[in-house]
Amino acid sequence: MKNFKFVNPTQIIFGQNSIAQLSKVLPQNSKPLLVFGGGSVRKNGVYDQVVAALQDYEYSEFWGIESNPTVETIRIVIEQARRDKNDWVLAIGGGSVIDACKLISAGILVDKDPWDIVLSGVAKGPFVPLGCILTLPATASEMNAGSVISSQATQEKFPFHGQFPKFSILDPEVTYTLPKYQLACGLADSFVHVIEQYLTWPNQSLLMDRWAEGLLLTIKEIAPKVLDTDNIDYDSRAEFMMCATNALNGFIRRGVVEDWSTHMIGHELTALTGIAHAHSLVIVLPGTLRIMGTLGKREKMLQYAERVWNITEGDEESRIEKAIVCTEEFFRSLGFTTRLSEAGIGEDIERTLVQRFEERGTILGERQDMNFEVVEKILASCRR
Ligand code: NZQ
Ligand code: ZN
Repeated sequence: MKNFKFVNPTQIIFGQNSIAQLSKVLPQNSKPLLVFGGGSVRKNGVYDQVVAALQDYEYSEFWGIESNPTVETIRIVIEQARRDKNDWVLAIGGGSVIDACKLISAGILVDKDPWDIVLSGVAKGPFVPLGCILTLPATASEMNAGSVISSQATQEKFPFHGQFPKFSILDPEVTYTLPKYQLACGLADSFVHVIEQYLTWPNQSLLMDRWAEGLLLTIKEIAPKVLDTDNIDYDSRAEFMMCATNALNGFIRRGVVEDWSTHMIGHELTALTGIAHAHSLVIVLPGTLRIMGTLGKREKMLQYAERVWNITEGDEESRIEKAIVCTEEFFRSLGFTTRLSEAGIGEDIERTLVQRFEERGTILGERQDMNFEVVEKILASCRR
């Protein structure tokens, strides 16, 4: 097990009717800026619950954070927050709204363009404190310090580290209005988050392996119930919310190496084509495993095959291949297409992506053995 330091300061308030507790965690004399996406919270009652909880507060609102939030919008919000002298930021939405708020809260008190903060990789503060009301289980942004921001001007998308939310309110009932596609996105994104902290090399931590496998098995098990929008089941939605948060709140990465190559390739696909984050991942992950699964990931692939997919028969090559097929079939069972051509992404995009990695000197993988040439092979194997 590698040495590590660990802290996660986010207070989680979980369960039915938990939005009513907002006034217990938001300081009474604060003047928050409430930040929303495109309006889903008006339809599902979340906005009304927030307004009811904040009846004794003076607050302002910003509407219109887009999916894959852009720095262009965030600049406008930062200006508004400075004008209104907001001393808290409240994110009310999915990962996009929360990620945007991480940059907003890092930018208000700092004399720096927000895109420079993103490009620096780490926001150093001072920060305006951040609280979240989560409406879409997927990214775990509600309990981590990460944020992913896009630039319309340059068609780029990069992660940076900001601050942890002070608190996040998670009411599984707010997921009831999510369309099937977004539920599938949340399940797939969470699954891939676990994979990218797990599927590296074995024998680093028995405990982290079992936790990661527990998350993967739970996500597989609940997926059909979560997607059955005609028979909504509170307990499945509650499990889903917990899986998504625990998949990327830092717990399962302690003491082990990670490989975020699928995410890094996926972010480029989204930046270049607008494909949804999770959809990019379900295309790239099987390709990554087809190329790397019999190389550095071989031993862990065999463990994954056995413990997650019950594959114990056949030689090593065929067990690894079966595990990749099962993974891709799982994503297809969620309703996704899993090849670039099916998503209308052509070889011109592949070439641009590979060229970007070559120019940036990007090196990926837990063994730092994936350069632009390996990425080129992965994309070719994702084609059709
Ligand atoms: O904008 P509104 O109207 O609210 O609608 C949203 C949006 O259209 C809708 N939605 C959210 N909650 C809903 C709802 N619709 C009905 N009922 C509800 N309860 O869902 C749509 C998608 O929302 P979005 O926030 O964009 O999705 P998600 O949570 O998947 O976030 C994606 C973003 O997070 C980044 C991704 O790159 C992408 O930009 N990620 C952030 C990470 C992090 N901070 O740690 C890690 C992830 O790997 C990921 O990269
Ligand atoms: Zn993700």
